[in-house]
Amino acid sequence: MRSYVVELECTYPGCGEKYSVDEINKLCIKCGRVLYARYDIESVKKSMSKEDLVNRDPNMWRYFEMMPVKDPSNVICLGEGFTPIFRAENLGKIEGYTDLHIKDEGLNPTASFKARGMSAALSKAKELGIKNVTMPSAGNAAGAMAAYAAAGNLDAHVFMPKDAPIMNQKESILAGASLNLIDGLINDAGRLSNEFADKENLFDVSTLKEPYRQEGKKTMGYEIAEQFDWELPDSIIYPTGGGTGIVGMWKAFDEMESLGWIGSKRPKMFTIQATGCAPIVKAFEENTQHAELWENASTKAAGMRVPVAVGDYLILQALRESGGGVAAIEDEDMIDNMKLIASTQGILPAPEGAATYVGLNKLVSEKKIDKDETILLMNTGSAYKYFELM
Ligand SMILES: Cc1ncc(COP(=O)(O)O)c(C=O)c1O
Ligand SMILES: [Zn+2]
Repeated sequence: MRSYVVELECTYPGCGEKYSVDEINKLCIKCGRVLYARYDIESVKKSMSKEDLVNRDPNMWRYFEMMPVKDPSNVICLGEGFTPIFRAENLGKIEGYTDLHIKDEGLNPTASFKARGMSAALSKAKELGIKNVTMPSAGNAAGAMAAYAAAGNLDAHVFMPKDAPIMNQKESILAGASLNLIDGLINDAGRLSNEFADKENLFDVSTLKEPYRQEGKKTMGYEIAEQFDWELPDSIIYPTGGGTGIVGMWKAFDEMESLGWIGSKRPKMFTIQATGCAPIVKAFEENTQHAELWENASTKAAGMRVPVAVGDYLILQALRESGGGVAAIEDEDMIDNMKLIASTQGILPAPEGAATYVGLNKLVSEKKIDKDETILLMNTGSAYKYFELM
């Protein structure tokens, strides 16, 4: 197996600047926007088919040809990805959903989908000779980074708001990261991490500010296709913070269509945010290309407490092109529905995961989703990390 990664390309409309995957890059130098890894699709088509996947290991590196790490010995793998998709029959019956599913990302190493992004980013960092990494995190990304840094022999620094979930703080320390708690929100943590990176000559792995975390997240899209036997569901509901998940899945669908693995059918993509921090919801409804900073952001779901997203235009583009939409929901409903999901399905969701079910009910009442569609809820994490809320 080999990677067919070719280059990095700026995603901003009208820019398209190219960069090398063999040098350290962050955002586009010309316009300051997000870079995406691009692959030699024609060669991948010649070298493999989707049927070849059957015999590969059940983790996200099974899509190695479409991953950005060139030398397999640089891959830091803890078994991330290939999480199960459960048919949620008990939960579905309550409101009359006939084909409701949950992808349980809580079963990843360090119990969240953040493992995917960190596995990809730190493996590539290792390949590029980076030894020290720093990052701001609302919660789960910190624990994931600490674990992958430990496994890959990298030195990790994390900047977190001091109200980040206790488990995320403890797991980071446990895995040997140096933790800095700050007075402020994730964007303030981002600024401090960035300054620290400049001062100490460290690499900053902030969401979408380095190009490879979304390559890990995109594997959720590959898996959804593979696990639904190459026929994507009608609607995917995603709890959105920085947006790498939704943006990554959208990228995966395009890549798979050019590979000939799926057709042109796309799911409607839906973003769920909390009413106390809903910049993407607001921008979608106001039909703008970018989202404004959300002042005084507040929600109990730490992963959705993201007042400004560097990839806002990519999230909004995916929502619009897919014919999907948005919903803002109350924290109270999210917490109540953690219990409903756990007690009907036996899946212990993160509040962010429970938010997708609350959002679904709202979207159905607004006639944006029909109850008989094939619907996939993304449970991005685990209730175990949020015992303060239980
Ligand atoms: C459990 C959980 N769900 C969702 C999110 C938001 O993810 P994204 O940045 O992909 O929008 C996060 C981010 O911290 C998270 O930890
Ligand atoms: Zn650019």
